Amino acid sequence: MRLSHDITSACPSIRRGKDSPSELEQGNNEPLKEGGCIANGGKAMRRTAFLLGAVLIVAGVVVSAAPAAGPTDEEGAAPYVTTVPTGYRDWTWVSVAHEAGNFNSIGAVLANDVAIKAYREGKLPFPDGSIIAALHYKHTASEENDKVFGQPQSFVAGEPTNVQFMWKDSKKYAATGGWGFGHFVDGKPADAAFLKPCFPCHAQMKARDLVFTRYAP
Ligand code: HEC
Repeated sequence: MRLSHDITSACPSIRRGKDSPSELEQGNNEPLKEGGCIANGGKAMRRTAFLLGAVLIVAGVVVSAAPAAGPTDEEGAAPYVTTVPTGYRDWTWVSVAHEAGNFNSIGAVLANDVAIKAYREGKLPFPDGSIIAALHYKHTASEENDKVFGQPQSFVAGEPTNVQFMWKDSKKYAATGGWGFGHFVDGKPADAAFLKPCFPCHAQMKARDLVFTRYAP
């Protein structure tokens, strides 16, 4: 916490008093005479130290009460989706998308009950609680299917590559258009740096609440 750092570097005795077996609490006033703190005199300083301690405790409580689901590794990063939503594999099919180029993937887009209702009713923006999943696989030629056709023409979902989510929570994910972005490989979440480009690109589809995939009838 930056707050505690600034204060304690101005008055080192407070840091020691706070972090380790406290000299202040033990009634030992010696540390108060250290460094720049001596200039303030004992009594005033004790009161200041007490107040600072109180501020630090309150600040600590506020910080530890912050939502646990947000990023913990990068300060200031927008919150993103860190856990795979349960049951997503059983959600309703919206459409498919094949991406060539470097990805060479085939993807199925699924939506949970809240999102599929909005899709079908053509309601925008998607309400809070909507989750849209994109299940990505290698776009793979199927030899066994090609055999029955007598020529190469069948492409299917090969190895799974990743699963991506967009989770609507207009408060929690306000910094990224109300959508939390998530990317998972083998159930493991990508970090904030990896997820940074998701929002700017999806933001280009503002007219459809950041969602590219159209509902396939
Ligand atoms: C360069 C633009 C771009 C970036 C960056 C991008 N996406 Fe997408 N995303 C798309 C497009 C276009 C689609 C439509 C389907 C397709 O082409 O695969 C899509 C589809 C999706 C979908 C299905 C819902 C929809 O909007 O169609 C999800 C979920 C998704 N992306 C999540 C993510 C996540 C998570 C990231 C970041 C790791 C990300 N996207 C990064 C362009 C992008």
